[in-house]
Amino acid sequence: MADLAVKVENLSVKFGDFFAVNTISFSVNKGEIFGFLGANGAGKTTTIRVLCGLLPPTSGHVEIEGVSVDDQAGNDLRIKSLVGYMSQKFTLYNDLTIAENLDFIAGLRKLKKAAYLENRQKLLEFIAFSGSLKSTVQDLSGGIKQQIALVAALLHDPSIVFLDEPTAGVSPDSRARFWALIRLLAQSGKTVFVTTHYMDEAEQCGRISLMSDGKIIALDTPEGLKAQIFKEPLYEFSPIVPLNFSDLSTLQASGLFSYFEPYGLKFHATIQDHAAWSTQQSELAQKFEIRDIKPSLEDVFIRSVERK
Ligand SMILES: Nc1ncnc2c1ncn2[C@@H]1O[C@H](COP(=O)(O)OP(=O)(O)O)[C@@H](O)[C@H]1O
Ligand SMILES: [Mg+2]
Repeated sequence: MADLAVKVENLSVKFGDFFAVNTISFSVNKGEIFGFLGANGAGKTTTIRVLCGLLPPTSGHVEIEGVSVDDQAGNDLRIKSLVGYMSQKFTLYNDLTIAENLDFIAGLRKLKKAAYLENRQKLLEFIAFSGSLKSTVQDLSGGIKQQIALVAALLHDPSIVFLDEPTAGVSPDSRARFWALIRLLAQSGKTVFVTTHYMDEAEQCGRISLMSDGKIIALDTPEGLKAQIFKEPLYEFSPIVPLNFSDLSTLQASGLFSYFEPYGLKFHATIQDHAAWSTQQSELAQKFEIRDIKPSLEDVFIRSVERK
């Protein structure tokens, strides 16, 4: 199907006897911002490495824009021209200038000089770069470094770009700026496949896949995930009297709640034992202000991923 950017069927990756990725299937539409969420070690980076053609899968089938990644047909170069990749740790060479970094990548990609310079200029305008290409990377702020790394990943004009924790460790305003760029990329028709640990970023994805222990445990729009993981009402408990730890652990262990998690200085809870709830609610209301709230993606993540 031509409108699919990524198609994954029963993909598994084993390291020795260990399944880093365990029989996952999903697809990503062209122009979509697709979020990949999961705890550390869930298998996100391993999946991305397969999708970029960097790691052969143990089993399963992967296509990028209809081009098969895992066959012997010699599609390697086609895949590499379709995908851009901003990897989790490596961004740029710190001791080289911006121009030297970009020249180096253009060289690796064997880009024609004129096309490279033209696209480089377009991309620098796209990120509204106002500095000097002769700046050494180590002298740049974290936010500018990430943006230049994005330019590097887009130099060959790929149709899909994989961003693996692109905003880890940058300031909140740089994260916001980076996400404005991500939205523009998607509007221009590029597919963005992104991993993040920030729930405010995940909220901006068209769809999110939640990964845990090598498996996809849920995949939907942010609103869809909330509805799927929280079918029952969610309550916020704000303490109005000082509480001690044993009160809380008694409450948590009481069987009253199917979900009871600290959320800042408050608690988020869903009811399990409705009979007990109706008798205890007024007593609890002396200790807590209790409100009916909408789940956040953080609630979704805590309930579905962290509690596993
Ligand atoms: N080359 C490798 N050899 C052995 N184990 C690996 C290798 N790469 C990743 N792993 C393991 O696979 C699991 C998934 O890792 P990874 O895909 O990096 O997770 P994530 O990106 O979600 O944090 C982890 O347990 C990790 O230790
Ligand atoms: Mg990772």
